[in-house]
Amino acid sequence: MTAPARRLTPAAAGAGWDAAVGALVNPSDRRGGTLRLVTSADVDSLDPARTYYVWVWLLQRMLNRTLMAYPTDPGPAGLVPVPDLAEGPGQVGDGGRTWTYRLRPGLRYDDGTPITSADVAHAVRRVFAQDVLPGGPTYLIPLLDDPARPYPGPYRSAEPLRSVRTPDEHTIVFHLNRPFSDFDHLMAQPCAAPVPRRADTGADYGNAPLSSGPYRVAEHRPGSFLHLERNPHWDPATDPVRPALPDRVELTIGVDVDDLDARLIDGEFDINLEGRGLQHAAQHRVAADGVLRSHTDNPRTSFLHFVSIQPHIPPFGDVHARRAVHYAADKILLQQARGGPVTGGDLTTALFPPRLPAHQDLDPYPTGPDLRGDLDAARAELAAAGLPDGFEAVIGTQRGKFRLVADALVESVARVGIRLTVKELDVATYFSLGAGHPETIRRHGLGLIVTDWGADFPTEYGFLAPLVDGRQIKRNGGNWNISELDDPVVNDLIDQSLHTTDPGERAHQWRAVERRVMEHAVMLPLVHDKTLHYRNPWVTNVYVHPAFGLYDVQAMGLVRDAPDGTDS
Ligand code: ARG
Repeated sequence: MTAPARRLTPAAAGAGWDAAVGALVNPSDRRGGTLRLVTSADVDSLDPARTYYVWVWLLQRMLNRTLMAYPTDPGPAGLVPVPDLAEGPGQVGDGGRTWTYRLRPGLRYDDGTPITSADVAHAVRRVFAQDVLPGGPTYLIPLLDDPARPYPGPYRSAEPLRSVRTPDEHTIVFHLNRPFSDFDHLMAQPCAAPVPRRADTGADYGNAPLSSGPYRVAEHRPGSFLHLERNPHWDPATDPVRPALPDRVELTIGVDVDDLDARLIDGEFDINLEGRGLQHAAQHRVAADGVLRSHTDNPRTSFLHFVSIQPHIPPFGDVHARRAVHYAADKILLQQARGGPVTGGDLTTALFPPRLPAHQDLDPYPTGPDLRGDLDAARAELAAAGLPDGFEAVIGTQRGKFRLVADALVESVARVGIRLTVKELDVATYFSLGAGHPETIRRHGLGLIVTDWGADFPTEYGFLAPLVDGRQIKRNGGNWNISELDDPVVNDLIDQSLHTTDPGERAHQWRAVERRVMEHAVMLPLVHDKTLHYRNPWVTNVYVHPAFGLYDVQAMGLVRDAPDGTDS
């Protein structure tokens, strides 16, 4: 059974190419109708503590509220959390170690029971139960744990987590073991959404979660569909973020990517929630049709595509060997391998995504006016490394787009005698056990690794610290500091930034981190990823959320309720 297609007649040109990047398309406060979403992948989890997919975090914005939340705002303000369940931002004390929030009055779950500060404390305790609830982000653990007596989570201990206090049912106080200036961002992650202890069924909670947001689960068939209906106890007067326009949201799950694009453009679905972007066939269809093109956005995803270079794998212990690779890279060839300027991304010689305040123009290893590589400079570095004839090394990658990038780098550096062999690792476990496991890097001697990375929260710390902080090397897998950089200068600058609340001063510190990391030449930046999204013209309030890099579906509404204009 398929839903009838929705059409606007006549087929008018839409708001324009890229119109929903940095601005709202079809602003409206009209309520009603059913928003029909579609994905190819399944939801990772409806338990707010266990999800990590960006698009599920956007879905969570409909179901769950958090102390802080990213506002409905297409501009730079969208990057700064605003009070959601809380009355105001965290009140900071004790030199950045104490964060206090007060809940707004009158907040309720969808079963009508009140939301209390104890429920937020319980949610935070659940994050510690990684044995029962794996999958979500874990930034809270090192900040709130006592290393002398690690807290095992609420299922294995009746004792409270001593660093989180609730003096009354509206107040919650976090006592961090060190300053952390981005704490409001952690309070905007789904894992900080309240879960009352009485409703907590542990690993099964995602099957029947309570809602604090404007919608609740009406019916969920994993792998097939998820239907949302209004939460009758959500009070718009308490919610500064969510317009909650549609009466219903119906997500169809598991549609094959090309089929999905065709049915989206034909109007059977309103929006692709997953935001992987249009595939090849649809890209051609859109490019050839001015009207379809005017319904298309081409935002940056805020993912950086890069090659990691490992100093612990010979001959890359010598910085000159690493720099030789930087100079020999043919950036145009690499960008083409990634998919070109529209669906690959914008070439970059620095690390920070342009949306972040610390973004700077940095090009320490210029590859010539045509960006095809500076082969003389590369040969000079090889000579300085005592390897004038080049060397042999292995580049790790995975099937698909990553493989094409590896091949382009092989071709690039062969021009100066660097002979690379490609090693393909398993796609499904690439970031956990492949590129992300220090052991795998050593076993296969992977001097080079093709990878990408997007921040879990939109700050300089959120973006760069997991990649370059020596204390964040994860020896047992899921490691993002692949080069295992552990430079005291970098580590100290990171710590300073966590004490610093002044944004200008912080940006200054992070620019110094970035310059220092680039001096080490352990990351070869390639592109800031971009993607191509299709928005149907009858959807209102469409914009790419700057904090997530995808459409903010909770903001959307519909120009009219019924398909085919029957009620227009
Ligand atoms: N940091 C992870 C990565 O780069 C996930 C990023 C996106 N997910 C998110 N919820 N922010 O693969």
